[in-house]
Amino acid sequence: MIDYKKIIASKIKAPLSTAELESLIVETADDAFGDYAFPCFRLARVMRMSPVQIAEKLAAETELDDHIVKVQAVNGYLNFFVNRVELVWDVVSDVFAARGNYGNSDMGCGKTVCIDYSSVNICKSFHIGHLSTTAIGSALYKIYGALGYKVIGINHLGDYGTQFGKMIVAFKLWGDRQVVEKEGVQELQRLYVKFHQEEPLHPELTEQARTWFARIEKGDPEAHELFEFFKRITLDEVKTVYKRLNVKFDSWNGESFYNDKMAQPLEMLRAKGLITESQGAQIVDLSDYGMAPCLLVKSDGSSLYATRDIAAAIWRKREYDFDKCLYVVAYQQNLHFKQFFKVLELAGFDWAKDLVHVAFGMVSLEDGSMSTRKGNVVLLKDVIDKAVAKAGDIIAEKNPDLDDRDKVAEQVGVGAVLFSALENSRIKDIVFSYDRVLNFDGETSPYLQYTYARCNSILDKAGDYKSSDVSGDYRALDNPETLRLVKLIGAFPQAVRDAAAKYEPCVISALLIDVAQAFNRFYIAHRVLSDDIAERNARLQVVEATAAVLKRGLNLLGIEAPDKM
Ligand code: ARG
Repeated sequence: MIDYKKIIASKIKAPLSTAELESLIVETADDAFGDYAFPCFRLARVMRMSPVQIAEKLAAETELDDHIVKVQAVNGYLNFFVNRVELVWDVVSDVFAARGNYGNSDMGCGKTVCIDYSSVNICKSFHIGHLSTTAIGSALYKIYGALGYKVIGINHLGDYGTQFGKMIVAFKLWGDRQVVEKEGVQELQRLYVKFHQEEPLHPELTEQARTWFARIEKGDPEAHELFEFFKRITLDEVKTVYKRLNVKFDSWNGESFYNDKMAQPLEMLRAKGLITESQGAQIVDLSDYGMAPCLLVKSDGSSLYATRDIAAAIWRKREYDFDKCLYVVAYQQNLHFKQFFKVLELAGFDWAKDLVHVAFGMVSLEDGSMSTRKGNVVLLKDVIDKAVAKAGDIIAEKNPDLDDRDKVAEQVGVGAVLFSALENSRIKDIVFSYDRVLNFDGETSPYLQYTYARCNSILDKAGDYKSSDVSGDYRALDNPETLRLVKLIGAFPQAVRDAAAKYEPCVISALLIDVAQAFNRFYIAHRVLSDDIAERNARLQVVEATAAVLKRGLNLLGIEAPDKM
């Protein structure tokens, strides 16, 4: 899009640098007052005049051209009017030139971003509590990719811990391969719970579990085989959900991958004098930074979650030479990330500043059920299934003749679930409601998809229209509704960059909602399929550009846009 702020800044004849002038220019809220405004208050002292006088003086001195067609002084503001016909044409032709990749850029070329997200735990269910990390991580993966970064998606599997020794004991005593194959993680969870029920009555179980855990660590074949079996069962289940959600990973290196990669970092921390002994354990004292100590080796010699994260960060830096490594993990782990980031910083790694904890809030369901309560987990798969079923009912009612109804229901249901984790600033807690996320008239994913499908149906009805046709009459677009819509479309590339810079996919979600609402207002106010061919072609181009932005934006959020709904 034409950089109007830059053009305007170069026209203002005031004693400030062009960069300073540019930073003061804002977009006007109401286009009756022009498209951009420059407040003159900052100049009052330097120019020794009142802002009102300054605005009048500068307005008189501003030279107009093809881009800026009018300037007005109003109450200490300079209001600029751009050539609106040119603006519309400029935005629309940018969208078409991008051929489905509007918003892409090469700003990230040559840079690598690691994104650690969704990181599931072996033998544990994949529940609604994993929705945000999965949706946000996956959206950031796509957003950074669009900006030209090389992105490494990492599922830092929770595949290490004494619980796997217990799991083996429980499985050998009460388990059955066929049942596990059939029932999956649910059966593994049942066995695990049973172990804890039986343990107080049969204290020998504790020792057996310890032995089996030691056997896993030593790479004993039977222990290894059983652990791999549990891992496959868990990942098979998780991967079917990832497939439905369009989620991809480049690495599945989990906690156990670092078993043999911790000794060196620990040695290095010791050599730097950072490690102290405390009640038999080895810690890094962080009291100078107002934090509890970072525990690295327990008194029995075993490592901890933080030890593995330290080893993982060092390994990733060496392997990928990342410019940034993001950890999309709930805010409950704030302290953990602060601690191990600090330890790496104290160890002298200047790249510790490139580690970012992308924290998010909690998800609960409307009926009060929570993801974490024991024995009462709400599986993510069940939430998706229910949303898809409800989407199917709505579509059956609204459009019973639609082809591919099941496929569309899947796209709408999945989109609704994903969008619920992407619509607000990530730190906000979410109360999930099926009715709200599936409301076709709300600020929802189905509303965006529906608006996209509506654009398509208009384009279908237009028959022989081609977007390359330049015979459109752009004067037909010089009205507030079109201008508002086109400006929002023009803001999309910046929204993609902002979403990446703030690690906030909601910047894109919010813009898409604005685009859809602006489109629906445009559509009510103006007859697209007008009898005047030139007018009609110009309006159709706006419709096509709207469709392109909605589709691209939804895709960056991991949501599909069905052509018909
Ligand atoms: N598996 C962990 C959990 O469920 C999340 C891991 C996040 N990634 C990391 N590198 N610590 O809490």
